[in-house]
Amino acid sequence: MASDTLEMEKPRPLMGDQLKGRVGIVTGAASGLGKAIALALAREGVAVIVNDIDRENGRRVTHDITAAGGEAIFQFGDVSDVKDARALINAAIDRFTRIDILVNNAGLQHIAPITEFTVEKWNLLLGVMLTGPFLTTKYAFPHMRAQRKGRIINMGSTQSLVSAEFKAAYVSAKHGLLGLTKVTALEGAPHNITAVAVCPCFVRTPLAEKQIAGQAKFHGLTEQEVVEKIMTGPAPLKRMLEPEEVAALVLYLSTDIAQCMTGSAVPIDCGWTAR
Ligand SMILES: NC(=O)c1ccc[n+]([C@@H]2O[C@H](COP(=O)([O-])OP(=O)(O)OC[C@H]3O[C@@H](n4cnc5c(N)ncnc54)[C@H](O)[C@@H]3O)[C@@H](O)[C@H]2O)c1
Repeated sequence: MASDTLEMEKPRPLMGDQLKGRVGIVTGAASGLGKAIALALAREGVAVIVNDIDRENGRRVTHDITAAGGEAIFQFGDVSDVKDARALINAAIDRFTRIDILVNNAGLQHIAPITEFTVEKWNLLLGVMLTGPFLTTKYAFPHMRAQRKGRIINMGSTQSLVSAEFKAAYVSAKHGLLGLTKVTALEGAPHNITAVAVCPCFVRTPLAEKQIAGQAKFHGLTEQEVVEKIMTGPAPLKRMLEPEEVAALVLYLSTDIAQCMTGSAVPIDCGWTAR
């Protein structure tokens, strides 16, 4: 009886057997969306390389996957660093011999008007969210080409498509990432490598929570007003996404039936960009 109950509680793979046995890298997987994606991929039977600069939480996610019977390794590394990005790809190949799915997810936010936006913050955000995906793509590409197959999923944003005040670096990086996605799709197609950019509106994660105070300061609003007017106001569906909702989309995009979604932005945005 007890084992029946346990069996019933075990989450079933959403994609059946479609992703079982594949190998996936998730950058920035210690927290928020990356964590949800890593856990979701592992539940589908994907061997996951968990990457982050946060060792403690990255290791915790890796442990949670293996404790639940999944396969995962933690690879510390800053995606914007050439050596670390190359080491991340090499770690996946050394351990699992192939890379089927690369999720470029690592990111961060900084809120300031252009005149107060420091060059250091600009370089940091562009480094992590644009140079990082370029480097991991660059180093994963030869392996995917040799396999004659590969899927690259870039974590864009509503702000890959539209803009927002006080987010010069974030909006520029996310628009640029959509450009990189398109080039990757064109260069990858002859080798059966495809790329797509997922574009969520606000998701309930530390990145979203941490920017409320900055938004309040520069918009002259209370924190409650920021949530109502800035984070959920522009969309017809007035709510934030949960990380698991975006992770489920990433699962679908990782399957072969989504292969023809390449070179494009895939919004999951509560209708934000419908206006
Ligand atoms: N939360 C949202 O509202 C939202 C909406 C759209 C898109 N996104 C995008 O989703 C991605 C994940 O964001 P999140 O909301 O889960 O944030 P988060 O802060 O919860 O997680 C981001 C993770 O990236 C890691 N990271 C930062 N710099 C890194 C680096 N140089 N190398 C490796 N890892 C690094 C952090 O340590 C952290 O674990 C980001 O690209 C973000 O732009 C978030």
